[in-house]
Amino acid sequence: MSRAAAKSLRIAVFASGSGSNFQALVEAAQAGKLGGSIELLVCDRPKAKVVERAAAAGVDAFVFRPKEYASREAYEAEIVRHLREREIDLIVMAGYMRIITPTLVEPFYGRIVNIHPSLLPAFPGLNAIGQALEHGVKLTGITVHFVDGGMDTGPIIAQRPVEIADGDSVDTLADKVHPIEHELYPEVVAAICEGRVTLDGRHVRVAGKE
Ligand code: GRF
Repeated sequence: MSRAAAKSLRIAVFASGSGSNFQALVEAAQAGKLGGSIELLVCDRPKAKVVERAAAAGVDAFVFRPKEYASREAYEAEIVRHLREREIDLIVMAGYMRIITPTLVEPFYGRIVNIHPSLLPAFPGLNAIGQALEHGVKLTGITVHFVDGGMDTGPIIAQRPVEIADGDSVDTLADKVHPIEHELYPEVVAAICEGRVTLDGRHVRVAGKE
């Protein structure tokens, strides 16, 4: 995306769980701080709290049950139809717990971002907070990255450190990580919406505000 991006971007958020990051993004959009509008929630778990959050915020949702489709590609093709119908510019993954395939990645490469609760490339995949504790690192953190075909392997846009204290548990560490995610993710999405983020191979440049 170039710095000339002038129009307000149309955003779809993908989530599977509580949706606290979805909520932070919605609130940033409502406060006029996102430079884009959240047009759609995509969720694979009908009972997830994020579905209630979307209803409360007046955001349309495409909620599906993966088991009702013949394959990943089949439900992703349907997702892509919904994205195209709403002319979505940017996909923001916020705790979407499914592996994604080229059906989704290829048409949107460079326009899909994810947030992951570790300093990638350390601790990709599930339970990153638990992995960091298990490994005994003193410092972990948060990464926002573009999504490619791999598991948390795409070009890194921004990272924030979080110190691990003696005696931290998954819950206490998650309580340190989440509030930082809620600040960082809207900031990064706003930078993309404002055309300040440039992707060049594996390298991402984020220009400051003018
Ligand atoms: C966050 O910790 C995010 O880093 C990870 O999934 C979690 C989602 O939490 N990808 P929430 O549903 O936004 O509360």
